[in-house]
Amino acid sequence: MANPEANNRYPHLPVLYQQIITALRPESPGRYVDCTVGAGGHAAGILENSSPSGHLLGLDLDPQALALASQRLSLYGERVHLLQASYTTLLEQIHGLGWENVQGILFDLGVSSMQVDTPERGFSFLANGPLDMRFSPEQPQQAADLVNRLPEDQIADLLWRYGEEPHSRKIAGAICQARPLHSTQELAEVISQALKGHRGRIHPATRTFQALRIAVNQELQALETTLPQAVSVLSPGARIAMISFHSLEDRIVKQYFRRESRDCICPPEQPICTCHHRAIIIEITRHPIVPTGQEVEANSRARSAHLRLAEKL
Ligand SMILES: C[S@@+](CC[C@H](N)C(=O)[O-])C[C@H]1O[C@@H](n2cnc3c(N)ncnc32)[C@H](O)[C@@H]1O
Repeated sequence: MANPEANNRYPHLPVLYQQIITALRPESPGRYVDCTVGAGGHAAGILENSSPSGHLLGLDLDPQALALASQRLSLYGERVHLLQASYTTLLEQIHGLGWENVQGILFDLGVSSMQVDTPERGFSFLANGPLDMRFSPEQPQQAADLVNRLPEDQIADLLWRYGEEPHSRKIAGAICQARPLHSTQELAEVISQALKGHRGRIHPATRTFQALRIAVNQELQALETTLPQAVSVLSPGARIAMISFHSLEDRIVKQYFRRESRDCICPPEQPICTCHHRAIIIEITRHPIVPTGQEVEANSRARSAHLRLAEKL
């Protein structure tokens, strides 16, 4: 299988690349959607393997990512359709192309290396930048708005819910004492001071930054509303591939796949089915696929990736 990523010249290495191509089985003249096209690494593989007539719709909220993807995928000409849009509008975008169904869909959730490594985007506590964290510059709310405007108890809830941060109350208190906060390093310093004495494996600001990013971009809500759309548009036998990077996302995907692969979702103690629910997918991965040690060595950002697959009945 051709791997155009072998000599990657782009700032984001696609995670679980071979596993995605093997799972989606792109072929000509199929129609595929990459809901998070980023720098176009997975998209290039799908196009390469569905030559000569496969088409790909690539969505991303980030115009900078789309510019890179557009450059990288230009050799595939009219087979590529790139749109700056949220994947929450998936059905609208597919129908806009005149497509009724597709033969494969990919979500590679979260943030790209380009985004994390650009300090002005505000995603990283390791570099100094504004407290932004938006995937799209058109989104109205930035991380600074949450940090500087929310009441303390709501900040604590947000850090607990989206970051699973055990010191959420302590950090929320410290943020409210120190605000207004404008930069990533100011925030990281406030958290480090608040958690002095609590030693952990990860940087003390890791969970807070994850929580703020998820909240700014409403990532979990977006995932929940889009999964049913994505499955509805798959043709029979077509597959959906979901790569997630933290347990909150993975849980949503796992629960959705479990539920939609069952014929009955009545409580187990109920003797007769009254739900009339019918399975619409087969869950292909009971346990998620994770990167090999070799991949993690080559790309440390792959280390928390979990891939789940399902097939439309
Ligand atoms: C991990 S990167 C994808 C990398 C890509 N697979 C590649 O090979 O280069 C995730 C991308 O999803 C985009 N994204 C996040 N939420 C989105 C949403 N709701 N709709 C569309 N794109 C989104 C981000 O802007 C980012 O570019």
